This record gives sequence, structure tokens and C-alpha cells, in this order.
Amino acid sequence: MKVVSETAFIGGKYAKEFEESFAKYIGVNYCVAVANGTDALEIGLQAVGVGEGDEVIVPANTFFATAEAVGNIGATPVFVDIDEKFYNLDPSKIEAKITPKTKAIIPVHLYGLPAEMDEIMAIARKHDLKVLEDCAQAHGATYKGKTVGTFGDVATFSFYPSKNLGAFGDAGAIISNSTEVAEKARLIANHGQFAKNRHTLIGRNSRLDGIQAAVLSVKLPHLESWLEARRKHAETYNKLLADSGLITPTAPEYSRHTYHLYVVQVPNREKVMAKLAEDGIETGLHYPTALPFLEAYSDLGYQPSDFPVAYSQIDKILSLPMYAELTDEMIETVCRSLKNAVALTATN
Ligand SMILES: Cc1ncc(COP(=O)(O)O)c(C=O)c1O
Repeated sequence: MKVVSETAFIGGKYAKEFEESFAKYIGVNYCVAVANGTDALEIGLQAVGVGEGDEVIVPANTFFATAEAVGNIGATPVFVDIDEKFYNLDPSKIEAKITPKTKAIIPVHLYGLPAEMDEIMAIARKHDLKVLEDCAQAHGATYKGKTVGTFGDVATFSFYPSKNLGAFGDAGAIISNSTEVAEKARLIANHGQFAKNRHTLIGRNSRLDGIQAAVLSVKLPHLESWLEARRKHAETYNKLLADSGLITPTAPEYSRHTYHLYVVQVPNREKVMAKLAEDGIETGLHYPTALPFLEAYSDLGYQPSDFPVAYSQIDKILSLPMYAELTDEMIETVCRSLKNAVALTATN
């Protein structure tokens, strides 16, 4: 209500308050709140100097926006296969894709699990590349004791309603420890204005609404307890599925997985999914097609053999229900139904 009575609709006091508290939560100097996570990626890339003609390394399995943002600023996404066990960018396959045009790497902390940041940062330093961490699915996840978003030159978040920290509509943010990067991002996101009607560059309009900022500020203090709830649910799933023969998610002991998604691998995936739906259990696919094989990238001419891991997992991955409010009984029901579905579809 205060947002309305104070007409703080776009940017303003409530957006500033959220920016400050989110920067503090992550442990960085600056947060620039923007309209959504895709804009955050585009602006974040531009803020570290990526643009027309550059190449940017992107994992073969992530949400489309990670690669789309690269294309939207005139650069080309260069896909790298993922790690078989952890679903994230495989650092051992990055260097083979580096060319003189490569300008940046975007590790995505997919499903809430931190990417292998030590190895990725070492490669980036060796080749003088920028690193943008796509943290859209990993608010509060940690790698070797440090929160994701604090490793690279810049990091971006989405607060899409279903994210671990979600607004009541679209919202996003760019974070950085660099004054220069944060100032450039803020400038780009607000029509290139450093003061009213003083435009120093051609920017765009991507600002956080006051109402979304107020929602996020109310929700942020609960985030840690929601993340812990997700982690506990993942443990329960792991325990109940231990005898199922299915591949369940795992994380290195130095990573705090925040389980934005709980992804298993199942045989006969489509049939299993249909059986679960019959039992009233909604599941998801993240993602049904690895990015290099999407129609949008058909001109790049990729073959399955270019991304053997991502390709081999496409028809197996299945996201089970995961949210903080799940109960043990609900998880038991899902696991029972899943085991039944796997047994039934193996014989039919
Ligand atoms: C990994 C990843 N990157 C980027 C985005 C884009 O965020 P938004 O939907 O807020 O534009 C998302 C959100 O769906 C995502 O999951």
C-alpha cells in the first residue's frame, strides 16, 4: 500500500531498500535491480564490455535466456558440454572452445548447484576472459564457503515468481563488487541517464517496480529457512529413492546445493511422466531440448556428438515437485508413485 500512496512505482525508495538488503545478503558491494533476469544477463554482459562480434561460452544445458541474452547484444553463444554428474558446465571442455573472439564465460549454477568456480575462474584468468555468473536458480547457494555471485566480474539473478526468491511478477538483479561495472549497469538500465535528462550512452528501460521490490524485501528474510527446507526435502527424496535404481541429484561436499529443482534421471521418461500425471503429480523438464539442438540455433549446425553428455540426458531428466512447503507425506506419495511408474513402464 505504501508503494501506491507514495507513488514509488518504478525504481525509488523500495527498489533501493531491496538492492541494499540483497547486496548485503549475498555479500557484495553493489546490486542493481532490473526488470527481469534476462535483462540482467544482457546488461551485465554489456557492463563488463561484451558486445557485437564477441563469443561467449555458455553451457549446453540451461534455460534459453542464458544464450538468448548473448545473441541479443550482438555476441555469439558458444556452447560447451556439461558434467555428467552435476549438470553444470564441464570446465575440462572449456579451453577447446576458446578462440581469439572469446570475451566471456557464463557459468550457470543450474538447479541450485554451484558450478566449478575455482576451475572456471582459473581458465578465465589464464585467457583474460570476463566471467558472468548466472545465479537465476541459485540464490544463496555456496561454493567452498562463498556465496555464488561473488566469484565472477558480475552476476545476475532472476526473481521470476517460481524462483527460490520470487517476486509477484518479473524482476531481476545484477550484482558486482566493481564500482565501474555497477555504475555502467545502472546507466544502461535507466536509458543511459546519470541524472534526469542527462544521457551519456544509449541504454534501455529495465527497472524494478516498487511493488515487486516491496514483495522481495518482505520475502528475503525468509529465504534461508526456505533454502534449508528445500535441502531437507532433497535429503528425504534421496533417502526414499535410494533403492529405486534411479539417478538422484548429488553435490560435492564443498557445495551448498539449494535445490531450485530436484532432477532425477529415469528410463522411459515420457511414459513415467504420464503415469505420474495420472496420479495427479506434476513434473517438469529442465530442459526438454539442450540449447544447441533448438531450432533457434539450427544455423550453428551442431550434432549430438558435439555435446554427448547433454544429448544423452535429454530424454532421461525429470524434475520432481520441489518447493519449501512440501511435506514428508507428499514426498512419500511422489516417490511411491514414481517407483510404481518406473516398474510398470519397464514391462509395458
Ligand atoms: C538459468 C536462468 N537464466 C536466466 C533466466 C531468465 O530470467 P527471467 O525469466 O527473469 O528473465 C532464468 C529464468 O527462468 C534461468 O533459469
